Amino acid sequence: MVRKVLLIGATGLTGQEVLSQLLKSESIDCVIAPSRRALEITHSKLINPLFQSIDELDLAPFDVDLLISCFGTTKKRAGGSRAFRELEKGFMETLLAKVRQKSVEKVVLISSMGANETSLFDYLRVKAEIESFATELKFQSLYLLRPSFLLGRRGGEMRTAERVIQYFLSKFSFLKGAFLGVWGIEVIDLSRFILKICRNPVPGIHVIDNKMLHLLSR
Ligand SMILES: NC(=O)c1ccc[n+]([C@@H]2O[C@H](COP(=O)([O-])OP(=O)(O)OC[C@H]3O[C@@H](n4cnc5c(N)ncnc54)[C@H](OP(=O)(O)O)[C@@H]3O)[C@@H](O)[C@H]2O)c1
Repeated sequence: MVRKVLLIGATGLTGQEVLSQLLKSESIDCVIAPSRRALEITHSKLINPLFQSIDELDLAPFDVDLLISCFGTTKKRAGGSRAFRELEKGFMETLLAKVRQKSVEKVVLISSMGANETSLFDYLRVKAEIESFATELKFQSLYLLRPSFLLGRRGGEMRTAERVIQYFLSKFSFLKGAFLGVWGIEVIDLSRFILKICRNPVPGIHVIDNKMLHLLSR
């Protein structure tokens, strides 16, 4: 059973929901959620160390059973393809190496549907390369989650493509059953599945595709 969780990306769409569910969970004693801007919530179980670069993030003071990564950037936010690759891959590889060094044996990463090292899309190649890096570190239990689109209310930043997809999916929700493999998943459901993993992380490498995410999060 996992009691102490390291959560990265707690200020994001998924991270906020995962954090909320972790804090409500009776089986979780402590959530260490480092971020580059202070979290808006405080809680007796929550520790929120601040950091500006992943290199300076010091995990030494913390006792951790499992890492959940909801970290991610976009080409637009990073400032182009090359910057995206450097940030996304550099951040995740440094983070994974740090937790490996701390002997954390259980890891949950949000990757992406279509992650593939030979993809035409840089985003999907980078996601696959991060998956491979994590796999090579031989964690006792590694979950690679591959959602299609993440659905939820994103405060502040507006991502037009996400809004269009959310609108389309809400209008055609009767098609969901037939297209579960690609249908967007609510972050509340994805987070529920992540909490299930925390209750019983099974040894091995588990690549969970979008359809399985829908089925397992019920
Ligand atoms: N959104 C989708 O439809 C979708 C689909 C498939 C896969 N995914 C993947 O799922 C994961 C979660 O997605 P999401 O949409 O929930 O993410 P998000 O809302 O964009 O949140 C990303 C998180 O990463 C943090 N972050 C980004 N750059 C950082 C940096 N340089 N240093 C420190 N922290 C940084 C953000 O912190 P700040 O708040 O400080 O920026 C935020 O906490 C990502 O890996 C994403 O690629 C997303």
